[in-house]
Amino acid sequence: MDKQELKKEVDSRRTFAIISHPDAGKTTITEQLLLFGGAIRQAGTVKGKKTGNFAKSDWMEIEKQRGISVTSSVMQFDYDGKRVNILDTPGHEDFSEDTYRTLMAVDSAVMVIDSAKGIEAQTKKLFKVVKQRGIPIFTFINKMDRDGREPLDLLEELEDLLDIESYPMNWPIGMGRGLEGIYDIHNERVELAHPENYDGKRFLTLDKSGNIADEHPLKQNSIYQQAVEDVELLQEAGDDFDLEKVEEGNQTPVFFGSALTNFGVQTFLEAFLEYAPAPQAHKTQDDKKVDPYEEEFSGFVFKIQANMNPAHRDRIAFLRICSGTFTRGMEVTLERTAKKMKLSNVTQFMADARQNIQEAVAGDIIGIYDTGNYQVGDTLYEGKLGIAYEELPSFTPELFMQVNAKNVMKQKSFYKGIQQLVQEGAIQLYQTYLTDDYIIGAVGQLQFEVFQYRMKNEYNSEVVMKPLGHKIARWIDPKDLDKNMHSSRNILAKDRFGQPLFLFENEFAMRWFADKYPNVELKSLL
Ligand code: G4P
Repeated sequence: MDKQELKKEVDSRRTFAIISHPDAGKTTITEQLLLFGGAIRQAGTVKGKKTGNFAKSDWMEIEKQRGISVTSSVMQFDYDGKRVNILDTPGHEDFSEDTYRTLMAVDSAVMVIDSAKGIEAQTKKLFKVVKQRGIPIFTFINKMDRDGREPLDLLEELEDLLDIESYPMNWPIGMGRGLEGIYDIHNERVELAHPENYDGKRFLTLDKSGNIADEHPLKQNSIYQQAVEDVELLQEAGDDFDLEKVEEGNQTPVFFGSALTNFGVQTFLEAFLEYAPAPQAHKTQDDKKVDPYEEEFSGFVFKIQANMNPAHRDRIAFLRICSGTFTRGMEVTLERTAKKMKLSNVTQFMADARQNIQEAVAGDIIGIYDTGNYQVGDTLYEGKLGIAYEELPSFTPELFMQVNAKNVMKQKSFYKGIQQLVQEGAIQLYQTYLTDDYIIGAVGQLQFEVFQYRMKNEYNSEVVMKPLGHKIARWIDPKDLDKNMHSSRNILAKDRFGQPLFLFENEFAMRWFADKYPNVELKSLL
């Protein structure tokens, strides 16, 4: 691919994630988007609790059992000359670490909000991470086919709680059973929710005064008149659409609609594809930026997933391409080990199948078959590029368990399982400094359950877990380490890189320690 071709390809990419509080409608809207992209033929393919068709993205048995999405998957489709990559994220907050890492691999995010509930806890948390990255955030206020909160209220809450400017791209005309449509400010038209109630025309053009141009019964409807008034008010008193602010993540374009009834989704998709950015330059550890049009290939692993297909014992490293072109069989360098790797067994993700691919460019996600070489956060690069991408966020775990193999004869599979799950970033691993006992740490309780389940099912290793409860983990500089610092109120441990840390019983124990050793700096992760 020559430089010009590469630029054209990269510019057509739109790589994003959808964030929301569970139940706001993320799965439903994803499914509608895939339908528009022709990536699936039938609703209920992504998630079909009721039909028994389990989600294509629900790879793991455990997800089926729980009906929550544990893994993040990648779905790709083409629409209107754009190649769209949607990175799915688990909704459950116990897996937010996984979500945070995925958010490092996207160029923009879509935030789905339930119109009856407004900004919920998980939305707020995820929003913060997106905001920190300074990437554009688009908002879809969902479930307008139900009675929800007043749209003006919702916008106000969004601005107050999330501290971001909002710009309504459209405005609902009624809601619930009275939902007539949306007043589409951006496209200067009215889109009817039920054109069948009128003459079948879905889009009505507006005249210069902002009213429906032709004669239409809706013009006499007070709900419509109210919407027009609201829009006028917004245009006078609200902020103007500012693409620069959107690109910096300081203004969010807001769309209203209903994913379930597929109303407003296509309009949203088209505007989103128009304004969402193509792949941007990515930061390296030494604060340089690598241009996506750079000819040499590079990217980073943001996720490792084992056993996506129970028929093969495979493990896949998900890599976000940040520059250049991937070609099958190419040789790259794994930055952490400086080892040369040949990328021959690589897949890309269409919604209904994993396909072997020949070529992919910056913005795309590829899945590399892995036999244990990769870790979350690894950089791969071609030629002499010699870069390491920014580290992925790591969280300070709060819950801890001591773990052992139930059957002492099966230590080997126990160690293998633990090592692999740790490399995947599914769980964090520590060992007590003095006795080398295994301790695992997690952000949420469900991570332990998944760990136990996967150890048994994938590694044939039954584990015994002894809860240590909540602890405060703090790292210290190895030069400050004195084994006598260990006491009954803390556990002295080392992480998998051999770095010493203390697991304090509570705040009190930590303060006591800090008072006793004022010169020892206690550090946390995120
Ligand atoms: P999530 O991935 O964000 O967790 O949400 P999901 O799409 O699974 O949607 C949660 C519930 O909300 C589902 O109902 C879904 O049908 C419903 N829903 C999504 N979008 C809309 C909408 O625009 N309008 C209305 N009225 N409902 C919507 P459920 O009964 O809990 O799940 P299911 O058993 O139908 O899958």
